[in-house]
Amino acid sequence: MASFTNNILKLLLLLPALSLSRTWALDSSQSSSSCHSSSSSSSSSSSSSSSSSSSTSSSSSSSSSSSCSSSTNSPDYSEYLAYIESICKTTPYPEVCLDALEHSIHEISTATSPNNTAYYFHYTLKTATNESRKLSTLLSKAGILNNIIEKQRGTIQDCTELHQITLSSLQRSVSRTNDVPINKRKLADARAYLSAALTNKITCLESLDSASGPSKPALLKSINDTYKHVSNSLSILSSKFGQNISQNGQNNRRLMDAGVPTWISKKLESRTRMLESEYDPSKVLTVAADGTGNFTTITDAINFAPNNSNDRTEIYVKQGVYEENVVIPSYKLNIFLCGEGTDATIITGNRSVVDGWTTFNSATLAVSGEGFLARDICIENKAGGEKHQAVALRVNADFVALYKCSIIGYEDTLYVHSFRQFYRECEIKGTIDFIFGNAAVVFQSCDIVSRMPMSGQFTVITAQSRNSPDEPTGISFQNCNILAEKDLSSSVKSYLGRPWRMYSRTVYLVSYIDSFIDPAGWTQWSNDDNQGLDTLYYGEYDNKGPGSSIDDRVTWSGHHIMDFLDTFNFTVSQFISGIDWLEKSPIPCEFWVN
Ligand SMILES: *[C@@H]1O[C@H](CO)[C@@H](O)[C@H](O)[C@H]1NC(C)=O
Ligand SMILES: *[C@@H]1O[C@H](CO)[C@@H](O)[C@H](O)[C@H]1NC(C)=O
Ligand SMILES: *[C@@H]1O[C@H](CO)[C@@H](O)[C@H](O)[C@H]1NC(C)=O
Ligand SMILES: *[C@@H]1O[C@H](CO)[C@@H](O)[C@H](O)[C@H]1NC(C)=O
Ligand SMILES: *[C@@H]1O[C@H](CO)[C@@H](O)[C@H](O)[C@H]1NC(C)=O
Ligand SMILES: *[C@@H]1O[C@H](CO)[C@@H](O)[C@H](O)[C@H]1NC(C)=O
Ligand SMILES: *[C@@H]1O[C@H](CO)[C@@H](O)[C@H](O)[C@H]1NC(C)=O
Ligand SMILES: *[C@@H]1O[C@H](CO)[C@@H](O)[C@H](O)[C@H]1NC(C)=O
Repeated sequence: MASFTNNILKLLLLLPALSLSRTWALDSSQSSSSCHSSSSSSSSSSSSSSSSSSSTSSSSSSSSSSSCSSSTNSPDYSEYLAYIESICKTTPYPEVCLDALEHSIHEISTATSPNNTAYYFHYTLKTATNESRKLSTLLSKAGILNNIIEKQRGTIQDCTELHQITLSSLQRSVSRTNDVPINKRKLADARAYLSAALTNKITCLESLDSASGPSKPALLKSINDTYKHVSNSLSILSSKFGQNISQNGQNNRRLMDAGVPTWISKKLESRTRMLESEYDPSKVLTVAADGTGNFTTITDAINFAPNNSNDRTEIYVKQGVYEENVVIPSYKLNIFLCGEGTDATIITGNRSVVDGWTTFNSATLAVSGEGFLARDICIENKAGGEKHQAVALRVNADFVALYKCSIIGYEDTLYVHSFRQFYRECEIKGTIDFIFGNAAVVFQSCDIVSRMPMSGQFTVITAQSRNSPDEPTGISFQNCNILAEKDLSSSVKSYLGRPWRMYSRTVYLVSYIDSFIDPAGWTQWSNDDNQGLDTLYYGEYDNKGPGSSIDDRVTWSGHHIMDFLDTFNFTVSQFISGIDWLEKSPIPCEFWVN
């Protein structure tokens, strides 16, 4: 593993002449001024509050593996069983893994070698898929006859939608890893899908937490049981066995051999293609609040856009204030929302947890559609700090990128829920946990702005919620400015992040950190909860500015002063597989840390 990384680094160091940054093909001269942001800071007397229920840590029990069931004592199978045991031993739920895989032996063909990890991985995934289908049936009955009684609006809807995404994620994990030759990229995709599925589980449980009703216990049990298979699948994929999945494929090449030459040529090709075909005005849908476009609301345009399209659908949103809660459902793929500037095109909402919504459903703009892009738009939630969790933008879709956008709120402004995401030259404003969730996400050249919280509160930029060491998720800031609004009082403490869950992961790379950040840098989840301080990964590399001094930083073993090589995992190319998908998008980016 280490030598693999080293080799790639050596390769990269041999390519210094390559310009790895791209520029926007049709550059716009829009100013990036911010949305009007009310500077009123309400001061109700509430104590600092945390944004979520307490976390359940993934149990990483490594109990000794159980003895094999006596039903299969044919000597032919002993090699298979031994291999199964060695695979299951390191999963989070070894008993569940063994139970499932022992069934596989009855179905195994003698042509399958005992150490065919891919076979067992797929079998675990199929078990997870079968259990997930049963859970779908339970969920479809949840809403009727008061089987489940919601307290927060959106609970059942959240769980149903998230579960559909889980089902498709499981299926796509199978197809990505069935498709030979399996390379590093396909394994990364499968890990991203399974990790998103596990995040969906937790979000559904959070929403269900306040619900009641006769079906609740059965539903919780089914969710619990189903997702154990998903956890195990991800664990197998992420372990040393995952490496061998690609070796089981025929015609397989060394993992990264493929990478470098192809992306260089692809880059040039797609650039030319983009310039030729960027604008076909007759195909662009326009939204104008004043009635001069095809639609007056963004929602109408989204509904009109084709379902499941592989081609980009461009929606041009003329200046205006759009008071809408806009949803991009999972079947609206490749939508490109293009505004006229963050001070001109504004989507605004005011849903909040205090007003009865789930955090997930409070979003002004909610993106579940893969391949979504946006630029020159302001998205805000104006509920205010006293309404607690109130999301402006939520993204739970793969390959989503925003460029020159403003995302404005108070507590929980930007919910980077799951999958892989990219933000470039955006401005994100809020008070507590204002960038939170469990996506793999890179922010480049963004302004991250802390605002005055309610009295008694502190400010925290991130609450990253990675829940298992197998999840390839985290928040990576690169070339960003970490700033405070003028009225943020110097008596308010401010931090870079706190661990929403045990394996929280956040890094600040070559960024400017202003003086308002506390010298300790980071803070624990709450005064009486110091979870994750050893298991989290918080890193800092080559930052500038008065708040960047590392002399008085927290002394947790999870806090790291990084060196250049450490930044590699958190780059656009590695962390979010950006070379493939951002290359084809009209959003500029740097693939590596310069
Ligand atoms: C499986 O085992 C055989 C012999 O025991 C070995 O030749 C082969 O390389 C192994 N394959 C994998 C994927 O580990
Ligand atoms: C999944 O369900 C299908 C159809 O009910 C069944 O044929 C198959 O054996 C099941 N697979 C696993 C791994 O449980
Ligand atoms: C979920 O699984 C865990 C671990 O196996 C168990 O301790 C817990 O009681 C289960 N919860 C429910 C609601 O079934
Ligand atoms: C992976 O495959 C290699 C070569 O095929 C083999 O030597 C090694 O033991 C395998 N590792 C596991 C964990 O199966
Ligand atoms: C949108 O409006 C433009 C300009 O009026 C027109 O050419 C185009 O056909 C309209 N598209 C749709 C889908 O109505
Ligand atoms: C898209 O799919 C949704 C949900 O299945 C359906 O309601 C809608 O009519 C479809 N729209 C189009 C344009 O096919
Ligand atoms: C929230 O916005 C809606 C529509 O934009 C408005 O009707 C409602 O009064 C607002 N609610 C609050 C509490 O501001
Ligand atoms: C980077 O990833 C490699 C391979 O997964 C891992 O061994 C290494 O510890 C990671 N480094 C950091 C700084 O996260």
